[in-house]
Amino acid sequence: MDIDKYLTGKKRVIDAALGKIIPKETDFPQSLHRAIRYTLFPGGKRIRPILAMAAYEVVGGKGNGILPYACGLELIHTYSLIHDDLPALDNDNYRRGKPTTHRVFGEAMAILAGDALLTEAFHLMGREGLEGEADPRAVIEVIGEISRAVGLAGMIAGQVVDIESEGKKVELPILEFIHTHKTGSLILVSVRTGGRLGGARDVEMEALTRYGKAIGLAFQITDDILDVKGSRDSMGRPPGVDMARDKITYPALLGVEESKRRCDELIGQAIAALELFGNRGKHLREIANYIGKRNF
Ligand code: IPE
Ligand code: IPE
Ligand code: MG
Ligand code: MG
Ligand code: MG
Repeated sequence: MDIDKYLTGKKRVIDAALGKIIPKETDFPQSLHRAIRYTLFPGGKRIRPILAMAAYEVVGGKGNGILPYACGLELIHTYSLIHDDLPALDNDNYRRGKPTTHRVFGEAMAILAGDALLTEAFHLMGREGLEGEADPRAVIEVIGEISRAVGLAGMIAGQVVDIESEGKKVELPILEFIHTHKTGSLILVSVRTGGRLGGARDVEMEALTRYGKAIGLAFQITDDILDVKGSRDSMGRPPGVDMARDKITYPALLGVEESKRRCDELIGQAIAALELFGNRGKHLREIANYIGKRNF
């Protein structure tokens, strides 16, 4: 199956599920549900939930048991984007071709909509743990790992160092810390969530972990390169915002060519990690290639 078809099919399933999770715009308080729906739909690539689903499938997970967790990961991602765009952080005016949430609904609503998405994600996963088929111990482990990956020891740590490094001269290890934490952590935990709930054996979890780490860093290197090389159409906002804010990025530190080389190397590592899955790993392999090549 060609990867575009696979991604589109999965996106459709995720979008339908997300549509049911969030209250209607007409439900009170309408302003909150309107702000959340504005940000969540039509949405972006849905790559984190897709990764969770693909990892679930590759280890033999059956049915739709992963879907609520996959949706939870996308709710967390969406919250992170709303807050990332706020004036106090990246101060961005556009995302996915539309004015950012705070531009349309105000800063207070953007903060609160983000808070609601983050907390609702954990409500959703906890409820599914009670009602669904998954082993309760696996669910508790997954919820614990996700909260760590997006919090103090993960995404937030990365965001803090990202913000504090603006306009400073920092070395590669700090840049790598930023990228593996602000972006890599959520991508890695998405893959691991699929694996754990799909019943992965230890060797399979190790392989998925190597895969997730490599694509997580590659994903943010690509995001950095797109800010230099991409177009308004491909990114949904004007390029050059990183340079305008004097952000520390791979192209700023190493140049575009070397950044691309490192990204390719990481994609190669990710694909190598999938070896034990044989042909069953083809979707994860194609997703890795897609991440390496998107929009250049
Ligand atoms: C953007 O993530 C923010 C980063 C972590 C680089 P995506 O590129 O996955 O954004 P959407 O969800 O597809 O818009
Ligand atoms: C985003 O990094 C990381 C998180 C949202 C946690 P960026 O700031 O580079 O993402 P974009 O470029 O605004 O999507
Ligand atoms: Mg940012
Ligand atoms: Mg940003
Ligand atoms: Mg960026």
